[in-house]
Amino acid sequence: MTKPLYEGKAKQVFATENPDELLVYFKDDATAFNGEKKGTIVNKGVLNNKISSFFFEMLGQAGIHHHFIKQVSDREMLVKKLAILPLEVVVRNIAAGSLAKRIGWEEGRKMPSPVVELYYKDDALGDPLINDSHIAAMGLATPEQVQNLKDSALKINEILTAYLKTKNIELIDFKLEFGTHKGQVLLGDEISPDTCRLWDTVTSQKLDKDRFRRDLGNVEDAYKEVLKRLTGEVL
Ligand code: TMP
Ligand code: ASP
Repeated sequence: MTKPLYEGKAKQVFATENPDELLVYFKDDATAFNGEKKGTIVNKGVLNNKISSFFFEMLGQAGIHHHFIKQVSDREMLVKKLAILPLEVVVRNIAAGSLAKRIGWEEGRKMPSPVVELYYKDDALGDPLINDSHIAAMGLATPEQVQNLKDSALKINEILTAYLKTKNIELIDFKLEFGTHKGQVLLGDEISPDTCRLWDTVTSQKLDKDRFRRDLGNVEDAYKEVLKRLTGEVL
């Protein structure tokens, strides 16, 4: 097998014959707390590839510009090559995780309006929370790009929240990454139970990576349940 151009915690990225396109391979490896906790989730790669492919297609139909071209196998998708902006854009509808800790709200408390946060993508620093003026001072993105990221993230939140509600899933929060391709800012990375908090609307059962982070058990079943609710596919 050819060597990946890049290997992250959950994915490998390969060059293709087309210099504008990359192949992303989804692994079963799972990490949390900036790589301190490690494990595997059986078939996570397949599930996240399918779930992400589904979300990208749906968002594309709703007018969101993204890197996804097509799913090419159970664990692989073809994408447009991006110059990734070193930012993680998090949108939150309900207080949970690091936000609940930071502002002292109990997990599950609804935010009166969605909150958008920006984190500096840097493993050595543990992806710190930063703001627009840090981004400007550090030259990480232009003010126009930052506004574009926030506007897109909020629009994506509206689309995903409304859709997931029809599947009895509450979108608590999620993380997005963006990059530029031929001068255009596109949504990149993945959208999956690794990068979203998804709670069953009726039971509040967690259907996401918090089951792994917090040792709640039934991790695979939760990811499978999300795929089933989205596409009807039983893996
Ligand atoms: P947080 O509450 O831990 O800051 O996470 C907010 C959201 O971002 C949650 O849906 C999980 C997602 N996330 C990632 O996708 N990657 C990460 O490295 C972290 C810390 C969070
Ligand atoms: N993916 C991140 C890591 O490994 C954190 C997380 O999702 O909780 O560390």
